[in-house]
Amino acid sequence: MKNKDKKPSAADSASAFLFCIPCLFGTEGLVSDELRRMGLSDIKTEDGRVFFSGSFADCIRVNLWLRCGERVLLVLGSFPAPDFNALFEGTHALPWPDLLPSDACFPVTGYCLDSALFSVPDCQRIIKKAIVEKLKTRWSLQHFPETGAEYKIRFSVRKNIAMIALDTSGTALHKRGYRPAHTQAALRETLAASMVKLSRYRGKEDFCDPFCGSGTIAIEAAFAALNRAPGVFRDFAAEKWGLSDPVLWRNMRNEAICAEYSGDYRIFASDIDPAAVQIARDNAVRAGVDHIIRFDVSDARTFSRTCDRGLIVTNPPYGERLLDHEQAQALYRDFGKAMEGKDNWALYLLSSDPDFELCYGHRANKKRKLYNGMIKCDLYMYFEKK
Ligand SMILES: C[S@@+](CC[C@H](N)C(=O)[O-])C[C@H]1O[C@@H](n2cnc3c(N)ncnc32)[C@H](O)[C@@H]1O
Repeated sequence: MKNKDKKPSAADSASAFLFCIPCLFGTEGLVSDELRRMGLSDIKTEDGRVFFSGSFADCIRVNLWLRCGERVLLVLGSFPAPDFNALFEGTHALPWPDLLPSDACFPVTGYCLDSALFSVPDCQRIIKKAIVEKLKTRWSLQHFPETGAEYKIRFSVRKNIAMIALDTSGTALHKRGYRPAHTQAALRETLAASMVKLSRYRGKEDFCDPFCGSGTIAIEAAFAALNRAPGVFRDFAAEKWGLSDPVLWRNMRNEAICAEYSGDYRIFASDIDPAAVQIARDNAVRAGVDHIIRFDVSDARTFSRTCDRGLIVTNPPYGERLLDHEQAQALYRDFGKAMEGKDNWALYLLSSDPDFELCYGHRANKKRKLYNGMIKCDLYMYFEKK
C-alpha cells in the first residue's frame, strides 16, 4: 500500500493507493489511455500490466468502466525476493490483520518471470504461510476456516521483485456476463473491446463484423456507442469486503447507467454459420444491446452493403482452430476480392497469418501486434481512402 499501514476505506476518498491492471500483451497503451480519460494519475505501463494511483472510489469506477484491462489489483507491497526467506518476510510484513477478516477465504495465485524463484506452487505455499502466521498475531486461531468473502491474493515475481496484491475484481473483467455460450475460437471480450478502441468507432458510421461468431466485437462496439460501462451489471469481489461501502457501489452503478447514450446506431453482424448467428443474437439480448445490432446469416465472400462508407472490425478464421491453413488463405483472397472498390470502408482485421496481406491483395496502412490468448496476431489496419 502506498500510504503505509492504511486500510482502504471508501469514506477516505483522498487516500492514494497503488493499483495494477494486468492486461493482454499489446493492449497496455489502450488501458493506460482509458485510465487517463478517467482522470487517473501516476499511470505507468510495463509489459502486460498498467499501474495507477487512486482512491477506493477510483477502484470501483475502474472496475465498472474499464473495457480493455483484465482485473483491478490493489497493490499491497513490492519488495526484493531473491529467495523464499525474503518472500516470506516481505509478505509477513504486510498489514494482513487490517485487511482480512478472520473468516476470509484467501487463495493465492501468481507467476514468476526471469527470477531466481521460479516454482509457482512453492511461492504460493510460502505466501500463504506468511499470511497465516501474520493473522495469528491478531486472532488466536490455529486454523483459519476460509468460509467468508473471497480475498484473492495475486503475486508476481519479476526480475526478483515480488509484488503482492488483492484482487478487487474477482471474476476477470473480460467476463462481462453476457456470454455464457460462445462459438469456437471466440475472442476475449477485452481483446474485442481493444480492437473496437483501435478502430476509433464512436457510434457514427456503419459498423460491420462479417465473421461475427458469438458476436463479441459487435457487442463491444455497441457498448462503446452507448457509452455503456461494461461492468455495470456484474458483481465484483471487493463489493463483499467488510471495508467496502455498498452505497458507494450503488451510486457509482447508477451514475454509470445514467451516463448511457441513446441514438440511431448502425451495427451489423453476420456469419456463414446460422448456429453462430443465433448464439450472437442471444448474447446481444443478454447484453441488452440487441436493439442496435442487426444480425444476418451471410457469406463474407460476397460482402456488400448499400452504404458506401463504414468500418469493418473483424476476426476471420486463422487456420489454427477453425478451417485449415489453405482454406483460411483462400477465404482471405475471396474476402479481398469482395472488398475491391470499397475504398470508403476502413478495415481492422485480426489474423495470426503473416501472409494475410499477400492473400488479401493489399498492404495494410498499419499493423499492430496483439495476442489472442497464446496466439500472436496482427491487427491489419486499412484506413478509408478519403
Ligand atoms: C474466429 S471466429 C470469430 C469469433 C468471434 N470474433 C467471437 O468472438 O466469437 C470466425 C468465424 O468466421 C465464420 N466464417 C467462416 N467462414 C465464413 C464466411 N465465408 N463468411 C462468414 N463467416 C465465416 C465462422 O463460422 C466463425 O464463426
